[in-house]
Amino acid sequence: MKEFIQSLPKVELHLHLEGTLEPELMFALAKRNDVDIPFNSIDQVRDAYSFHNLQSFLDIYYQGANVLINEQDFFDLTWAYLRRCQGDNVLHTEVFFDPQTHTARGISFETVVNGIHRALVQGATELGISSKLIMCFLRHLDEESAFKTLQQAQPHRDKIVAVGLDSSEIGHPPAKFERVFKNAITLGFLTVAHAGEEGAASNISEALNLLQITRIDHGVRCSEDETLVKQLVSERIPLTVCPLSNIKLKVFDTMAQHNIVELLRKGLCVTINSDDPAYFGGYMVDNFSAVANAHPMSKMEIAQFTFNAIAASFISKSEKERLRIVTQSYLDLHP
Ligand code: ADE
Ligand code: ZN
Repeated sequence: MKEFIQSLPKVELHLHLEGTLEPELMFALAKRNDVDIPFNSIDQVRDAYSFHNLQSFLDIYYQGANVLINEQDFFDLTWAYLRRCQGDNVLHTEVFFDPQTHTARGISFETVVNGIHRALVQGATELGISSKLIMCFLRHLDEESAFKTLQQAQPHRDKIVAVGLDSSEIGHPPAKFERVFKNAITLGFLTVAHAGEEGAASNISEALNLLQITRIDHGVRCSEDETLVKQLVSERIPLTVCPLSNIKLKVFDTMAQHNIVELLRKGLCVTINSDDPAYFGGYMVDNFSAVANAHPMSKMEIAQFTFNAIAASFISKSEKERLRIVTQSYLDLHP
């Protein structure tokens, strides 16, 4: 099954670029930019990546981002991730960035978005990997800061397809950003939001109703509300699930207890994603393998995660059809 997973065409829909900062690049950028980091060695960094919940991860994750200063740093970060995509046969990826993490440190919005965009364009031309960029608002910050960020994004409408919502879910419900999302929709952005990761299933309903999102990031706690599960199935609302992340952040104790396969078999449009792979122990192949090892599945079921991701992506109908045919051909050749 390992070889089947390795070569299976894949689509990633839940990936924080700041979460792809590998310790080696963190050290290199700290040196290049003369930034102090609280680690003496790469091993020490990896040892620090032991989390007991979402907040304990976020504290380290925001600290790591301090080494990103210049446009070239954002290019290098994004390019390194795209090379990983190439290795894992990810054909299309929709990636998040958190502008407020950087603008709060005096880095301009342009520096961030231009570095990322340049790498994404090069990824398409040199690696054949297509992509979309999603700008997330940090939900622990206030509405005013989110509005300001939305305004900063305006000149870059051509580079950013959607807005999202991430960071600390507990204590910062979707309702806090209802007006920001309404405004973003008026401006033509698509919308997604993290909901039901650590927070209750009610956050998923609230995000659907108040933020009018078209897909849910994580959403695994939907299982606590059978009516909501039925709604997600009947309305084909996708969940971008991140299995290794959920284990690292103790959303589930073990992969065997993870509900992703149960949700797949109930007919939900669930997908597999890597979230913050540098922090959670793996990219797409690692996530697919971890799920398949803990939950015996047919090849068709494993490929269904790709078919779901194609359907849930923000690409055109014709691009979806092309990827669907590529994936179906692979499945036909490897029954
Ligand atoms: N930012 C980066 N990773 C995140 C996650 N798993 N949940 C919420 N915010 C995040
Ligand atoms: Zn996430």
